[in-house]
Amino acid sequence: MWRVVSIGLVGVALFIGALATGALRPAPVETVSFFQRRCAACHGKDGSLFPEQFAKKYPRDTELIEVIKTMPGGDALNHEGLQAMAAYLRAISREEPYIIWTGQHEGVLEGEISPESAILKATAKRQSLKVERPAGTRWRVRLPAQVKPADVELTAQRGTKRTRLRLKDSPYSHAGK
Ligand code: HEC
Repeated sequence: MWRVVSIGLVGVALFIGALATGALRPAPVETVSFFQRRCAACHGKDGSLFPEQFAKKYPRDTELIEVIKTMPGGDALNHEGLQAMAAYLRAISREEPYIIWTGQHEGVLEGEISPESAILKATAKRQSLKVERPAGTRWRVRLPAQVKPADVELTAQRGTKRTRLRLKDSPYSHAGK
């Protein structure tokens, strides 16, 4: 019993430690390409076939997630994957661009944006960073020395709709309710 409690306490301490050092990590799923592969055949590219403002029917993410779980392909998403997908669906429903940070290799951040036509800008400490768009919905930002993911703010613009994401808040936009 005490062994279990102490293991639990070590876990909590590690978790708090990770929060304190601000160790951010990317989302564990590439929501946009997952949607293209598994959902777009029925719901359209970028979800264009969903009814207007459909996500309003599900005020809480838990309700939206229940629906996603019943969809073909929905069982391939873990808890975090479902939350990131719910966020993407909110963005689609509001016709706002969606941004997700999915990886980090040797000072380069990688992620996805939807729709492809949205323009992505990145800043850190008020300095603008170069954004590469290697293909379609993918983006890449090389961090200068001294700049941490927690400093990065991403802005996606499509027509009059704008989405802002501070990586220190979440690895993807339109996060959780
Ligand atoms: C084989 C076709 C098909 C695929 C693939 C599919 N769906 Fe669906 N989806 C439907 C149909 C049909 C409905 C409407 C009927 C219903 O609610 O069951 C629906 C409804 C929904 C709704 C509710 C929309 C509303 O207006 O209430 C959501 C959210 C949704 N799907 C998400 C997804 C996601 C996310 C994926 C991929 C993981 C996905 N679907 C894959 C066919 C599909």
